[in-house]
Amino acid sequence: MPTFNLKINKKSYSVEADMDTPLLWVLRDHVNLVGTKYGCGIGQCGACTIHVDGNAMRSCMLQVSQAQGMEITTIEGLSEDGDHPVQKAWLEHDVPQCGYCQAGQIMNAASLLKNNPNPSDDDIEAAMNGNICRCGTYVRIKQAIKTAAK
Ligand code: FES
Repeated sequence: MPTFNLKINKKSYSVEADMDTPLLWVLRDHVNLVGTKYGCGIGQCGACTIHVDGNAMRSCMLQVSQAQGMEITTIEGLSEDGDHPVQKAWLEHDVPQCGYCQAGQIMNAASLLKNNPNPSDDDIEAAMNGNICRCGTYVRIKQAIKTAAK
């Protein structure tokens, strides 16, 4: 089995895996970063969203062999102490209900604000549209993103 050298949350990891193993499973099963969640495995729900070279990506759709040499950030590495503006706004607005999708929501929101620090309602809806929440926390997600943007 090949070995892959990955940079995740500013640390280096060597992992043995099949070439086509989704990065999601490497994160969860090989390096025990289980904040990134499995929802659908086919790029449809957003639960597995991480940052790759600073942009939101779905880790279920990225093979481990494609991730070498890239800066990978998971929810565990988004901030030192959970104090990223998006994380603070999430707490302020009590966004999560069951919580399962929320790491992906936060990672996508953080990427949105990095690229567009003052998004309109339409911008937020367009950017967050593909992150599904079965509890329906969408209103609070939008409020929290607006608070984080201030
Ligand atoms: Fe990756 Fe649903 S688990 S998009």
